[in-house]
Amino acid sequence: QQDPPYVFVIFGASGDLARKKIYPTLWWLYRDDLLPKNVHFVGYARSDLTMEKIRDSFEKNAKVRDNEKDKFEAFLKQNTYIQGSYDKVESFKKLQEFNDDLQKRTKQPVNRLYYLALPPSVFAEVTQHLKEACMDYGDSWTRIIIEKPFGTDKDQIYRIDHYLGKEMVQNLMTLRFGNRLFGPSWNRDHIASVVITFKEDFGTAGRAGYFDTSGIIRDVMQNHLMQVLTLLAMEKPVSLNAEDIRDEKVKVLKSMPPVELKDVIVGQYVANPDSAHPEAKAGYLDDKDVPNDSVTPTYCMAVLKVNNERWDGVPFIMKCGKGLDEKKSEVRIQFREVPGDIYAPGELKRTELVIRVAPNEAVYLKLMTKKPGMDFGVEESELWIYPTIVAIMVSVYLMHMSVYSLKSLWDLKSILSVPMSLNMHGFGGVIPGVDHTNLDPSGRSDLLRTIDKAKVHKNPSIFDLAIMYCRTKEIAEA
Ligand code: BG6
Repeated sequence: QQDPPYVFVIFGASGDLARKKIYPTLWWLYRDDLLPKNVHFVGYARSDLTMEKIRDSFEKNAKVRDNEKDKFEAFLKQNTYIQGSYDKVESFKKLQEFNDDLQKRTKQPVNRLYYLALPPSVFAEVTQHLKEACMDYGDSWTRIIIEKPFGTDKDQIYRIDHYLGKEMVQNLMTLRFGNRLFGPSWNRDHIASVVITFKEDFGTAGRAGYFDTSGIIRDVMQNHLMQVLTLLAMEKPVSLNAEDIRDEKVKVLKSMPPVELKDVIVGQYVANPDSAHPEAKAGYLDDKDVPNDSVTPTYCMAVLKVNNERWDGVPFIMKCGKGLDEKKSEVRIQFREVPGDIYAPGELKRTELVIRVAPNEAVYLKLMTKKPGMDFGVEESELWIYPTIVAIMVSVYLMHMSVYSLKSLWDLKSILSVPMSLNMHGFGGVIPGVDHTNLDPSGRSDLLRTIDKAKVHKNPSIFDLAIMYCRTKEIAEA
């Protein structure tokens, strides 16, 4: 008897998510033999497409290496595309024909996983039609995956945040709890601030219809960045079991007071005619799917607090935005100044641990070391850890002076540009109590337009940080 058959259906196969994440991930799982043997993939969308066109849409993101080409072809052979609408049950019957045919060929019940990479407005219709036409009530199972935003009804819903699938986000726990080094200093006595940054150099990428109702806070901050924050701030869980980790995260969230508007800066990207990135040439409001008067934030910086024994007084600064100067996602842990400084005034810089989630995952520690030579001058060096190749290397800058002077210039630019541009653009000035050093909102803050926070207030997204807090309370109490 053959292996049991599985069908993975991607609704919204022509969309951005399918192209960027779902197809490439399915390929990687297939490549690494992590899927059942007899698995079939069905792309489903309204567009008149072929598998060739689907392939063209995601092949670049799949990063197929030379020695994997044959396996990639084998993966594509397991793929089918079905054109169908979301509102007509007849279209779903085509999908059921595929399932039935597979059942006949394999003489076994077919397990089905329906991935709805679709806007929430069609969830009800699609699941209704799936129930009418595409279920099997025999010995197989049927599962549904839906994409955010998925409402407030939580029972029996497993929430998955794709950031938790990122190698470096998973690595946060290992770095903290698998090393003796960081444990003793991971607290308010030694850490001055934690900055979590998410920047994208593209705009809404054709998803403005969705994005304008969500905004960056709901899209990225309350989910992806919040996951990162809790992993950084939580106590060591009793075990690696999911519930034990969840319990520690909830405690962090319960220690967080609601975010105050005075601690929030919001903005929207404007056109940058000089950009090499075609999408950045247009501003957010130039997007045809964005209403002209939209006040949906595409950028947000917020200072969050964790009022517990470990973190009281340490700002957790989240900065995120679309349409910025680069694509980058990272965490910076800044340690406090050395007490009783014996070096020349201003010579010592704060020790900083940088954990880069994307692009090119890396961990590096910025340390002070002695400048080679006859005296005791100091300089900043970087201790690099490349987790993926499990190699540790102290990077000694041979061309130190030239590299470093460029770097300092860049730092200076970003330091200077912050308070000035924030004031210039009426961002509400600097956030009180926060050291704005190195907090440039975008790298190009002249390319952000102010949003009046009072107006955004009317838009639910600014409340999400507070909502998130309340929700967490609910979950904790449940
Ligand atoms: C998604 C957001 O959840 O995460 C997108 O909806 C964002 O707007 C994306 O671009 C970022 O994830 P990644 O893995 O591409 O960095």
